[in-house]
Amino acid sequence: MDELHPALARVLIPADAIKVRVNEIADQLARDYAEEDGLYLIGILKGAFIFLADLTRKLTVPHIVDFMALSSYRKTATYSGAVRIMMDLREPIEGRHVLIVEDIVDTGHTLSYLYRILKGRKPASLRTCVLLKKERDSLDVPIHYLGFEIPDLWVVGYGLDFADSFRTLPYIAVLKPEVHQQPSEISSPQDE
Ligand code: PRP
Repeated sequence: MDELHPALARVLIPADAIKVRVNEIADQLARDYAEEDGLYLIGILKGAFIFLADLTRKLTVPHIVDFMALSSYRKTATYSGAVRIMMDLREPIEGRHVLIVEDIVDTGHTLSYLYRILKGRKPASLRTCVLLKKERDSLDVPIHYLGFEIPDLWVVGYGLDFADSFRTLPYIAVLKPEVHQQPSEISSPQDE
């Protein structure tokens, strides 16, 4: 493996382990939705785009891909826990079998909000598929398909970012704690 970027402490989940798990989830989805006439996958931008791209190419049941973008103000000083829709779906989901695809659940605010909103649109079924979930005592939203449970660390790679960098790393890595306290002092991976 290439040398780690100096902003990264270590690799948490190697690329081959992600690949194995994504394939397992795709197999599970194929079994669970074998009787349905189609699945409506909703990728949550930006973080889920790589997970969704790999998952959808392994999925053997008929499916449609759509996207939503949400903003949580999580990275701002005025963070209030509020979530809002920045970009909505192209089509109605009433009567459809819907699967939300997320890269990470941290506090659960984003997924919980989205689950409530989409449930209100009366899909035939609504489930969630999450690559990473931080260890928490409880969440008020169900996670039906989970890639990995991880410790409470800032992780990047495979779609996840720090200041929009590191999304294209093939593995999940831990960002050094001192880096997210001083964002202006790091270079992006492309600068290396
Ligand atoms: C991340 C992630 C989830 C959300 C999870 O998005 O993709 O949508 O945070 O956090 P929560 O469980 O505490 O609500 P982020 O705001 O980093 O945006 P991005 O996906 O565009 O990078």
